[in-house]
Amino acid sequence: MINNAIPLRIAGVGYSVPKAVVTNEDLTKLYDTSDEWIYTRTGIKERRMVSGDESAFELGVDAAKNALAKSDIKADDIELIIVATSAPSQLYPAMGCRIQAELGIPNNIPAFDITAACTGLIYALSIARGFIASGMYKNILIVATDNNSKLLDWSDRSCSILFGDGAGAMVVTASEDGVDDIISIDIKSDGSIGNIIEFNLAGKNCPLVEPNTEKPQFITMNGKEVYRFVARVLPEYVEQLVANAGMKNEDIDYLIPHQANLRIIQAVQERLGYSEDKVITNIERFGNTSAASIPLALVESVEQGKVKLGSTAILTGFGAGMTWGGAIVRLREGIC
Ligand code: UT7
Repeated sequence: MINNAIPLRIAGVGYSVPKAVVTNEDLTKLYDTSDEWIYTRTGIKERRMVSGDESAFELGVDAAKNALAKSDIKADDIELIIVATSAPSQLYPAMGCRIQAELGIPNNIPAFDITAACTGLIYALSIARGFIASGMYKNILIVATDNNSKLLDWSDRSCSILFGDGAGAMVVTASEDGVDDIISIDIKSDGSIGNIIEFNLAGKNCPLVEPNTEKPQFITMNGKEVYRFVARVLPEYVEQLVANAGMKNEDIDYLIPHQANLRIIQAVQERLGYSEDKVITNIERFGNTSAASIPLALVESVEQGKVKLGSTAILTGFGAGMTWGGAIVRLREGIC
């Protein structure tokens, strides 16, 4: 951290999910699969999918309103918008700009999108921390939103079972009481294995140069390789994150991980020696909602009384890139 860094306060966290529920049983109408196969390998029973007017944008706006309403910051006072999205409804205008317009946030502020897939929320939080620490901006809106269901190959049964749609949002601000809600934060990437989860914007070459070059555009994933990589890297990484913060595993109240696969979450849980009630999962009902998954798990577990505020949590994510990251955060009363 820079000298004289300004501390950050998490002021509000919100989420939004689409209405339509797609169960494992429903997926058996698309391909040869079963609830038993999906549930035992992933921990997923059902997920939400956008329909009608719903989209990553619409969910993002809703989550942002929700986070702002829980915070003590007004939309007019937001000075920067960062949207983490890898399955947006449009590549440009950036979702950040569209959310700015929709929320009526003054037009003299910057807004942009970042692509860090399922680690997007941690990346955005890290960027926001830098801007707040340096004094450049005070009030920042982070939105993490993905509509994966529109980018999936609905005949690929090993990939399309995993994902759902959703959005999360966080309002962060300069802390005025000297307490930093980010105890530690770290982001990483390894582009050399980027091909294990991809979404290619193939497009069409100019017909004068090369006719008929359009390729299908779907998320492709080598699930086994992703699983191997994350199961090897993540448990040790999270343990190290705690040690680097000068903390012990028992100093942390909750682990709130990206919801990609229950078996991966359990591997991290075992490494840290945490009991089940310390580890927050809602993958059973929402599947993998990419960037939205951490804020969705956080707020939903507060609503359900599983997470008590006035506590400390590890947030950790991983995804395409490959990217991964983690933050140890203070969860103040009233943020969600
Ligand atoms: O945020 C993104 C991060 N992504 C992840 O975390 C993904 C991590 N990976 C995984 O969770 C697992 O790899 C999956 C759950 C996606 C897939 O499980 P897997 O054990 O790696 O399956 P596989 O794709 O290697 O397929 C094994 C077998 C194959 O049959 P054969 O060739 O052994 O006869 C597949 O055809 O399972 C079959 N299979 C299925 N069977 C029933 C694949 N998908 C299905 C299915 N239902 N949905």
